[in-house]
Amino acid sequence: CPGGGGDEGGQDGGGGQRGAADGAAAAAGPDQLEGTGSIADDAIHLKRRVGLVSGVALIVGTMIGSGIFVSPSGLLERTGSIGMSFVIWMACGLLSLLGALSYAELGTMNPSSGAEYAYFMDAFGAPPAFLFSWASTLVLKPSQMAIICLSFGKYAVEAFVTECEPPEIVVKMVALLAMVVILYVNCYSVNLATSVQNVFTAAKLVAVLIVVLGGAYKMFEGHTQHLMEPFKNTKFSIGNIATAFYTGLWAYDGWNNLNYVTEEIKNPSRNLPRSIVIGIPLVTICYALINVSYLTVMSPMEMTTSEAVAVVFGARVLGPMAWLMPLSVTVSTFGSANGTLFAAGRLCFAASREGHLLDILSYVHIRRYTPSPGLIFHSIIAGAMVMYGTIDSLIDFFSFTAWIFYGGAMLALIVMRHTKPTYPRPYKVPIIIPYLVLVISVYLVVGPIIDKPTFEYLYASFFILGGMVFYVPFVHYKLRIPFMDGVTVFLQMLLEVAPTSTMLE
Ligand code: ARG
Repeated sequence: CPGGGGDEGGQDGGGGQRGAADGAAAAAGPDQLEGTGSIADDAIHLKRRVGLVSGVALIVGTMIGSGIFVSPSGLLERTGSIGMSFVIWMACGLLSLLGALSYAELGTMNPSSGAEYAYFMDAFGAPPAFLFSWASTLVLKPSQMAIICLSFGKYAVEAFVTECEPPEIVVKMVALLAMVVILYVNCYSVNLATSVQNVFTAAKLVAVLIVVLGGAYKMFEGHTQHLMEPFKNTKFSIGNIATAFYTGLWAYDGWNNLNYVTEEIKNPSRNLPRSIVIGIPLVTICYALINVSYLTVMSPMEMTTSEAVAVVFGARVLGPMAWLMPLSVTVSTFGSANGTLFAAGRLCFAASREGHLLDILSYVHIRRYTPSPGLIFHSIIAGAMVMYGTIDSLIDFFSFTAWIFYGGAMLALIVMRHTKPTYPRPYKVPIIIPYLVLVISVYLVVGPIIDKPTFEYLYASFFILGGMVFYVPFVHYKLRIPFMDGVTVFLQMLLEVAPTSTMLE
């Protein structure tokens, strides 16, 4: 298959990983399938179980997480007006759709799982592919986890201290507590993690429905005063608009999730683009309605100062049932965090198996068959991010890094139209679309730096490129550190984990 090149590095260790990867993939729910391994390493035969409905559910379920319950205030603050916020919310939906359509071509052309990793390998070779797995294992996935857990903490605490600012340290402690519980669930059993995911995904849809119906009711009562003069006070600055996009795009993140599980989609050349065309506009409509709903009960001013908009909304609309709102949001964020850690663990597991990270991270618990070292590793990084970061700073940091790679995928598509013209392309996106998304991603990455250069962006860039310091000796020249084997054995005994090859014998 043309995508074979995308996984060259995985051939050697692939056979050994079959047990855990298959076990986990077989039990994983839709939200959790990203990063379950690569098709070309031949060891992992994933059944084609995802049809159109589950494809749509996979996209919608991943995209709707914490963002829509937390981001509206940040976005409004950055744009200054409800009209401009609304335009950006819709533009984020459109950008996600265009990005996802381009990913549909990439995904149907190169059917390997692992999305960007495989495409970079095909288009640019091993070093950029390594930098992607390096940055996503160490930064992207943990920061997703940290943002969602912080949102969980915020809503869980806010439920008890309605309409006043909850103490930051308490929010962080609750976020860490949630992280530990989720880590335990994921290390304990794949089935438990999956069940938690399914129950919590349903709850998130209930939360969305409550807000939309509540807003519609208030609208009928005639509460439209805050929707007048929508563009008053708009702030027009390149950097503000770009960072406002970051906030909105966080709520839409997950639009490329189906590309992580391409080999499990039934008739992917048809169902991948269709799921995208149905799923993303659906989320966009939900977000538009939720934003209008919020404004039926609070003024733009209140919205920017409110720490947890959905709680305020619940308090004003649901009367004695107000507790429903923070509860469903905490449940929804807990579910997203669970799915995100699961995926993160799989990604870590897959990247280390391909010789890109430490061996120990690809080991699996000897009885529970969970990739616990990878999960623990991710949780430690995410825990540090929870302690030292805030939701907004982490979202900026995440989006900056993520959009470098989304832009990179667009470039990969354009480059491969020229370098791999004979690859089969069952779905071909109009070439103007990836060009457009590429230009926008350059703007999204460069805009905030030009407008307000902060050290975070510099650190993030150094961090990504710094991966080369490890790539050259350890991946390219396969250098071994002498004492590392001792450390690996020690950790192996401590955590009761083993390489999956020994467990299959
Ligand atoms: N859009 C989600 C939210 O608003 C975050 C999704 C994180 N991304 C992912 N691929 N799991 O919380």
